Amino acid sequence: MKVLVTGGAGFIGSHTTIELIAQKHDVLIIDNFSNSSLEVIRRIEKISKKTCEFLNMDIRETSKLIAVFEKFVPDCVIHFAGLKSVGDSIIFPLDYYDNNFLGSLSLLKAMDASGCKKIIYSSSATVYGEPKYVPLDEKHPCEPVNPYGKTKLFVEEMLKDWATSKDKNSAIILRYFNPVGAHSSGLLGEDPLGVPNNLMPIIADVAIGKLPHINIYGNDYSTRDGTGERDYVHVVDLAQAHVAAVKKVSQRDFDVFNIGTGSGTTVLELIEEFKKASGKKISTNFVNRRMGDVAISIASVEKAKDELSWSAVKDIKDMSSDAWRWKIQNMTE
Ligand code: UD1
Repeated sequence: MKVLVTGGAGFIGSHTTIELIAQKHDVLIIDNFSNSSLEVIRRIEKISKKTCEFLNMDIRETSKLIAVFEKFVPDCVIHFAGLKSVGDSIIFPLDYYDNNFLGSLSLLKAMDASGCKKIIYSSSATVYGEPKYVPLDEKHPCEPVNPYGKTKLFVEEMLKDWATSKDKNSAIILRYFNPVGAHSSGLLGEDPLGVPNNLMPIIADVAIGKLPHINIYGNDYSTRDGTGERDYVHVVDLAQAHVAAVKKVSQRDFDVFNIGTGSGTTVLELIEEFKKASGKKISTNFVNRRMGDVAISIASVEKAKDELSWSAVKDIKDMSSDAWRWKIQNMTE
C-alpha cells in the first residue's frame, strides 16, 4: 500500500515507518522538523536499508499538501504530526489548536481533494481525563482536562464526522497509553527538546548523570507502593499496532482502539527496572503530587487483540534496556 505518514520523523512516526517499510509498504513522510531532525531520516534508511522518501513541509499549507497528494496518490494516511506537551498546551493553547486541530483539518481537505479515503490517527489516553474506572475501555467517557487532550478529542470527533459523511471514508483512532523504549538498534528513540517531562526520559537522564536525581511526584496514591501507576507500552509494539490498523482500516467506517499492554507499573517499579537495565545508581527524591496527574491509568486491550489481532509483546525490561541503549549511544549535551 502507498502510505503517507505525517510526523514520520518523530518518535512514534519513525518507528512506524520502519515497520511499514519492513511490511513492504511504500512510504512518504511529511514532517516540518519542528521537533525532529534530518538525522532521523538517515537512521530510518540505515535500519531499513531503503531510501526513505520525505518532504520538509507543514501540513497546514493546504494547497501545497493537495499537490503532494495528487502526485503521491496515497491509499492511506497515518497522522502523527502535532504538538504533544501537556504543560505547553496550558500555556500556549492556541499553538495546540493551530497545529493539532487546523493541521488535521488541512490534511482532511487534501485527502478529500485527492480522493484518499483511509486514515489512522495518533490519539492519546489523555482524552479520557480522570479515570472513573480501570482498566479503561474505549467506552469510558472522554473528558480531557488540558488543551492538548481537548485537541486530540476534537480531531477524533472531526474524523468521526468525516468518516460517516461518505460511504468509503474510513478512520481508525489509536489511543496510546504511555509510549516508551526505543529501537533495539539504538539508532532511534525519544529525543525531547530541552528538559524532558515524561518519566522514562528523565530516569535515563539521571542514570547517565545528566540530571542529579528524579523527583517522584507523590507517594500517597492508592497504588501498591503509593507512586503513580501507568501502562507503559514499547514504541516498537506501538508501531506494529499501526501496521495492524492499516490492514483493517478499509473494513471500518470509524473505530477506536486503546493501545497499551493491559498491565501497570509504578514509578518506583520502573526506576528499579531501569537500575537493573543500566547498572547505574538512580537517586530519587519524593516531592508533592504533580497537578493534573492521576493515580492509575491502565488500558483495557481486549478490543485491539480481538479486532486488530494486535497485542503488545515487549515488557518493561525490554522497554528499559532499549531506552538505555538509545541513551548511551546518543549522548547529547
Ligand atoms: C503524560 C501526559 C499525557 C501524555 C503522556 C505521554 C501529563 C499530565 N500527562 O502522561 O497526557 O499522553 O505523558 O506519554 O503530563 N513522574 C514522576 N516524576 C517525573 C515525571 C513523572 O514521578 O519527573 C510520574 C508521574 O507522576 C506519573 C508517571 O511518572 O505517575 C508517568 O508520568 P509521565 O511519563 O509524565 O506520563 P503521564 O503523566 O502518565
